[in-house]
Amino acid sequence: AAGEEVELPNTRFSFEGLFGHFDRASAQRGFQVYKEVCASCHSMHLMSYRNLRQIGLSEAEVAAIAATVQVTDGPNDDGQMIERPGRASDRFKSPFANEQAARAANNNAYPPDLSVITKAREGGADYIHALLLGYGDPPAGVQVAEGLHYNKYFAGHQIAMPQPLSEGQVEYHDGTKATLEQMATDVTQFLTWAAEPEMEERKALGVKMIIFLTILGGLAYAVKRKVWHDVH
Ligand code: HEM
Repeated sequence: AAGEEVELPNTRFSFEGLFGHFDRASAQRGFQVYKEVCASCHSMHLMSYRNLRQIGLSEAEVAAIAATVQVTDGPNDDGQMIERPGRASDRFKSPFANEQAARAANNNAYPPDLSVITKAREGGADYIHALLLGYGDPPAGVQVAEGLHYNKYFAGHQIAMPQPLSEGQVEYHDGTKATLEQMATDVTQFLTWAAEPEMEERKALGVKMIIFLTILGGLAYAVKRKVWHDVH
């Protein structure tokens, strides 16, 4: 029935666990998927092109990517707004001017901004991954409303987003085979990095704190034994 809870498959990602790290190659492929597929409907307004340096793109690659979009800037000295090619310091260009325009183009549904989507949805990366792979025919007897699509993992199972990925949809620059599963994993890797770029530092600091506190604890215990040694 609608609203029924479906258990999310648990996907193993490189960024999980105490020593979790982002898989740079996967995140780069994921950006390619975002750019070539998702970006036609979803903005990522918190991201700047220069942030892509962090997942291993070179300065020249970032400049080239930024230059593919036209950005409205200004006013210039004459008080005019101008169009210019994007720069590394620009935010990702949004596909629509505002929410109304986005809804108008999507059957009145709103494609949410994907900047922090892995944090914004329960289930995080596992949910995004599952959602992208969750399309299919509805079970017998389930009627899917006009303009909606059956998806096993979406709340209520009827989503306005058409299945965005299909086998071989992108041609990966690094030659990786673009299976449905591969693209879903890569774009989830990218979106997880985007939502929490400082995750690796946070975890590294956590590991250091554990080591530090273990040593400090041992020291405190040794001192305590020594100080109280003669007290019976
Ligand atoms: C919703 C991801 C491509 C249109 C969503 C949601 C996510 C998502 C995570 C939120 C689901 C929720 O609320 O729980 C992606 C990714 C894409 C992609 C990763 C690329 C691989 C597209 C494209 C379109 C689109 C190409 C337009 C043709 C929408 C719409 C919604 C939506 C209209 C709102 C659905 C609803 O509330 O029923 N998408 N999307 N998406 N997406 Fe996408």
